[in-house]
Amino acid sequence: RKLALVLAPFSGGQGKSGVEKGPEYMLRQGLAHEIQELGWDVTKHEPLKALPESDEVQSGKVKNANLVGEATERIYRTNLEALNQDSFPLTLGGDHSIAMGTVSAVLGKHPDAGLLWIDAHADINTLQGTESGNLHGCPVSFLLGLNKEAPGKLSWVPSKLHPSKIVYIGLRDLDPPEKRIIKELGIKAFSMYHVDRYGINQVIEMALQHLGNGPVMCSYDVDAIDPQYVPATGTPVRGGLTLREALFLVERLAETGKLVALDVVEVNPQLATDDVHVVDTINAGCALARCALGETLL
Ligand code: ARG
Ligand code: MN
Ligand code: MN
Ligand code: MN
Repeated sequence: RKLALVLAPFSGGQGKSGVEKGPEYMLRQGLAHEIQELGWDVTKHEPLKALPESDEVQSGKVKNANLVGEATERIYRTNLEALNQDSFPLTLGGDHSIAMGTVSAVLGKHPDAGLLWIDAHADINTLQGTESGNLHGCPVSFLLGLNKEAPGKLSWVPSKLHPSKIVYIGLRDLDPPEKRIIKELGIKAFSMYHVDRYGINQVIEMALQHLGNGPVMCSYDVDAIDPQYVPATGTPVRGGLTLREALFLVERLAETGKLVALDVVEVNPQLATDDVHVVDTINAGCALARCALGETLL
């Protein structure tokens, strides 16, 4: 089993610096070695090395469209190549805008793939709807093709995702236009309310059933997890998944044998108020990756 460890130290999809340090911290924790010990052949990839300073197009509220476009296209190419060589891409963010690249790569290789988006946020804002102008709040709208015209270098995104092929888990902080889109498109979404009502086990079974029998990709924003476990992230929202619920989700995915790619995003070690917060957050991010790769399967 081959694994492509794709480092995506990218922060251009939002305004807080430090999220680009995520990959470095997770590697320093020994993640690559731990994955090797699970029986994977690991190769490291750094598609964002020497990313040029880009001139920015002014397009409504949206910030850094060219930078995000350039970075995500590079990640797309790297991940698609990995998939074509039968490697499992594990992409370490970086902010969640990078999922435009990772998800597009999976859909390029497996057009029938389902996407599990685990997050406190829906990240489905359109260019019109975004309040913040931060592109990490918008990747899903690009993947679905909801923006008539993508500004600047963002125009590469192929928009191959069908609304029936994404399921959300962990939602609890949506902007009003995001709720409308989810309703209109009939997107399957399990908020924290549903996690409490049905339990995490039922929720993941319903999610998998909705996605059908094809391959599954998981884009995991660590802010899905309660800030008591993952404090060092850019947009924390209280009332999230417990650490066990969070890990259980990826354990179950590993067990299905259908998982073809994973993102772990929004780890921002610079936002910790003390060292324990850094350690907790990095440990949680690494544990998500290891569990998704089979660590706790017997
Ligand atoms: N909905 C807010 C926005 O669009 C927050 C997005 C947070 N996204 C994230 N990947 N943490 O700005
Ligand atoms: Mn989020
Ligand atoms: Mn909010
Ligand atoms: Mn997110």
